[in-house]
Amino acid sequence: MSPSNFDLFSDQAMAESVPSSAAALPQLRAQNLRDLLHHHAHAYYTLDAPELPDAEYDRLFRELQALEDLHPELLTPDSPTQRTGGAVLAAFQQVTHRVPMLSIRTETDNEASGAEAFDTRIRKELGLVPTEPPVVYVAELKFDGLAMSLRYEAGLLVQAATRGDGETGEEVTANIRTIQQIPLRLPADAPAVLEVRGEVYMRRDDFEALNERQRQRIASGTKGEKTFVNPRNAAAGAVRQLDSGIAAERPLSFFAYGLGDMTPSNEGGPTWTTHYAMLMQLKAWGFPVAQQTSRVHGASGLVAFHQRIAVERDALPYDIDGVVYKVDDLALQTRLGFVTREPRWAVAHKYPAQEEMTTVLAIDVQVGRTGKLTPVAKLKPVFVGGVTVTNATLHNELEARRKDVRVGDTVIVRRAGDVIPEVVSVVLERRPPDAQQFTMPAHCPVCASLAEREEGDADHRCTGGLFCSAQRKQAIWHFAHRRAMDVDGLGDKLVDQLVDAGHVKTLADLYHLKLETLSGMDRMADKSAVNLLEALEKSKTTTLGRFLFSLGIRHVGEATAKELARHFGQLDAVMAASEDALLQVADVGPVVAHSIRSFFDQVHHREVVQALRDAGVSWAEGEALAPTEMPLAGITVVLTGTLQSMSRDEAKEKLEALGAKVAGSVSKKTHYVVAGAEAGSKLDKAQALGVPLLGDEGLLLLLAGQKP
Ligand code: IVH
Repeated sequence: MSPSNFDLFSDQAMAESVPSSAAALPQLRAQNLRDLLHHHAHAYYTLDAPELPDAEYDRLFRELQALEDLHPELLTPDSPTQRTGGAVLAAFQQVTHRVPMLSIRTETDNEASGAEAFDTRIRKELGLVPTEPPVVYVAELKFDGLAMSLRYEAGLLVQAATRGDGETGEEVTANIRTIQQIPLRLPADAPAVLEVRGEVYMRRDDFEALNERQRQRIASGTKGEKTFVNPRNAAAGAVRQLDSGIAAERPLSFFAYGLGDMTPSNEGGPTWTTHYAMLMQLKAWGFPVAQQTSRVHGASGLVAFHQRIAVERDALPYDIDGVVYKVDDLALQTRLGFVTREPRWAVAHKYPAQEEMTTVLAIDVQVGRTGKLTPVAKLKPVFVGGVTVTNATLHNELEARRKDVRVGDTVIVRRAGDVIPEVVSVVLERRPPDAQQFTMPAHCPVCASLAEREEGDADHRCTGGLFCSAQRKQAIWHFAHRRAMDVDGLGDKLVDQLVDAGHVKTLADLYHLKLETLSGMDRMADKSAVNLLEALEKSKTTTLGRFLFSLGIRHVGEATAKELARHFGQLDAVMAASEDALLQVADVGPVVAHSIRSFFDQVHHREVVQALRDAGVSWAEGEALAPTEMPLAGITVVLTGTLQSMSRDEAKEKLEALGAKVAGSVSKKTHYVVAGAEAGSKLDKAQALGVPLLGDEGLLLLLAGQKP
């Protein structure tokens, strides 16, 4: 549609003024309504810039429908009412493509290097010497849908055909009419015959909504319904529907990327000489063209596009499986020609697939530090999103049931960006008949203690506590952590061995380890054993905050542990505190208070604490100190960059011991920003907000209780 056509619709009054004459001139009103609806559908679906409330659009639509019902002779093939589908075919007609639908040479490529190889090839074919300017290319997205050829004669959509084998496809016009983004009629300046080639696809949100509807249908017992594996499959299914009414319920979208057959109108031939100009003309005629489509120069331009799209990919509302590079100049395209069925002037570079199919070999249940039982799908190894995936967490029983993943199932696994791999869905058609629904075992798979799920909690937990070797191992890893007791050299593998061999049953056993025992462990040099004993000895001198954190009480993180130490001052006071008393501590709510109380109510936890003290673990016990009595109470500090006098962790610990709050980001409420070498954006932000800046000296003054 040309802009001059749009002017007709800009006058809101028109929509109201015409009905009065409509009774006399239904034909005019029908034409007028079609124009209005075309215009607004284009604004809504293609330009993404609606100009009319949905209800108003619906009203105009119903008016046209009523008019056409009353006067069937007024119905035209380009009427928006023809998009709703209805026709049911016995079979699709074959269509011979007047210009064959080619495919593109496709290379799977992680890096941008493929772009350089393509450019080198093109320059060689064209006989360009290095001193000649870079070749101009159009870089496009490689949409993950299905190729479609749309034929317009005298401006009207007369045929839509699938690619088929490239020579012959299937006629799917009735289904394609339901795609709101596809113009049913072209403006007057369009060629007499025009075939637009492009991709029919389904947006991810439309796909999710469709699958949700399908799930509801299946749940309500509708026969023959199924969910779709991915948007491309759903799109292909919709396009190949013999019942166009069903196709209309499955929202499809379209992007144009090329041309097929064309006969110029009487006014003359095409006005473009480049691929890019042609795409812009298609856009002007109302076809969606992806906004990322770029004209770039030489290999470096292609590389930059490849990298930019790799980053943007996950945020796109639809799937792409790569990028396509095309020589822009149509005369050069002609010179380059074809090899068999592929043009020499184009190449596709695929990204590694983000979704793959594989099978579930087993569902294991893993035991976490606090006893949480996590079902994990063990997968037949599959390469997806650039890595080999063998495991995917199913989170908990509810989630495993919701997805209904079973051993033996074929599943779709997704890994996008750096996100942890997940099972997206099960391919139900491939489920073995004897596959059993997953249920959480009644007992811990490691220690056989009862597995329980508290009300309101999604997770099952092993009730074995530190009797459970899986929990014990993780409790020991946690205990030794740098931010807990800070035992250097006590790694995961060693803990596994020590627990499995029965050398460490409780945390306190760590402090009774003998050199001979340690040296006897796998891959343990004498020197490492000595170092570990030293590290254990050193760890005995600690702070109450670290000690409380190291016990691994559920819901008690580092900050809460420090707060408890500050509030109560002494371990015995913490251990004796009632839930009410615990609630007085900053950041402690009912769940945390309950968790602390029940931890210390267990005899064997109290025994572990005593055994640790007996082994020599100690800290300076203080008086209970209300936070407001501390020298830096109420002061918020942000640390950034590398300090000379101490590490950031040390500075944090010292500041907090004096009652300061050490925050992660700068705001108007920050009192000081301590900036060391190579401080970045936090420094900029502090300057922008006018927050006082301190260096090493200022920090030391602050720690000495002086105003910097
Ligand atoms: S151009 C002569 N451009 O990829 C070149 N194809 O083998 C004809 N595809 O299934 C195709 N995005 O449907 C071209 N921007 C794009 C594309 C694209 C996706 C599909 C196409 C066909 C395959 C090409």
